[in-house]
Order: sequence, then structure tokens, then C-alpha cells
Amino acid sequence: MSENLIISSGDKAERWATLLPQVEAMLEGETDAVAAMANVAAMIHYTFDNLWTGFYRVVADALVLGPFQGPLACVRIKRGRGVCGTAWAKAATLIVPDVEQFPGHIACSSLSRSEIVVPIIGRDGEVKGVIDIDSEQLGTFDATDAAALERIAALLAPIF
Ligand code: SME
Repeated sequence: MSENLIISSGDKAERWATLLPQVEAMLEGETDAVAAMANVAAMIHYTFDNLWTGFYRVVADALVLGPFQGPLACVRIKRGRGVCGTAWAKAATLIVPDVEQFPGHIACSSLSRSEIVVPIIGRDGEVKGVIDIDSEQLGTFDATDAAALERIAALLAPIF
């Protein structure tokens, strides 16, 4: 997959515009959630080169680490804890420009400075998991990232 992936240059809107159709094509007809998450994590990670790109799945009362690209990460996060657990509890996208300003941020890596977390919401309205991206720079993520990741979350939701 990675050798076929177009690593686009340009600003983030252009990169997402190139990447989204590739994600849609890759997910077309795919029914395995692990395979889908693994490829989506790789596609986003190698397009934007952030510190960490991956998934947590809701398993009973916790978010459990799923497929990711990047350094070792926390395995379990409770509902309402950290950025991921808060995005789950609120069923809402969270953009954190400075993780040190987010009360209860879970520092899986001391290199992480900013973060975006987007919930994957099933047809029943329940959060099934989250997409999490961490950056070594402050203020990396904005509404452009949120919109693109929410589109990807919507594509993944039926597979969960
Ligand atoms: N920082 C996240 C935890 C997950 S890792 O960064 C991969 C949080 O506060 O939820």
C-alpha cells in the first residue's frame, strides 16, 4: 500500500484532498475493522508525518489501543480521561492546540505538544472508537483536519 500512496506536497487542504479519495477507495467493500484502521493510520501518518497517528476502540468501559503508527502508546484510557476519553464522553471532536493546557491530558509521549481526537460514532449514536493524532508542534490541528477526519470516521463507522 505505502508504495502506491501518493505523498502529496502542498498545504494541508491539498494533502487531505489527495488523501480522502484514496482512503475511500481503500475502504470500499472492506469489512475488517482492524485492517481498515491499520491502513488508515498508515495513510494519514505518511501523508502528514506527525508524531503519532492511530485508533482507540471502545471495549466495555475503556478505550483500548488499536492500530497505530508512531511510538509506544498507553493501552487503556478510561471514559472522560485525557483528550481521547473526553472526546468519547462528549461524542465530539476535540482540537487541543497545547496539550499542557488541557486538564488531565495523558502524556503517552513527552514529545506531544498538540492533538486532535475525532470520535467514530455508530448508527446507534454510540461512540465505537476514536481517531487520535499527536504532533510535536503546538497548534498543528484545525477545522480542516477535523472535517477530513470526521469524514474518515463516518466511513469507518459501519465497519465497527
Ligand atoms: N494524549 C492522549 C492519550 C493517547 S496518546 O497520546 C497516543 C490523551 O490525552 O487522551
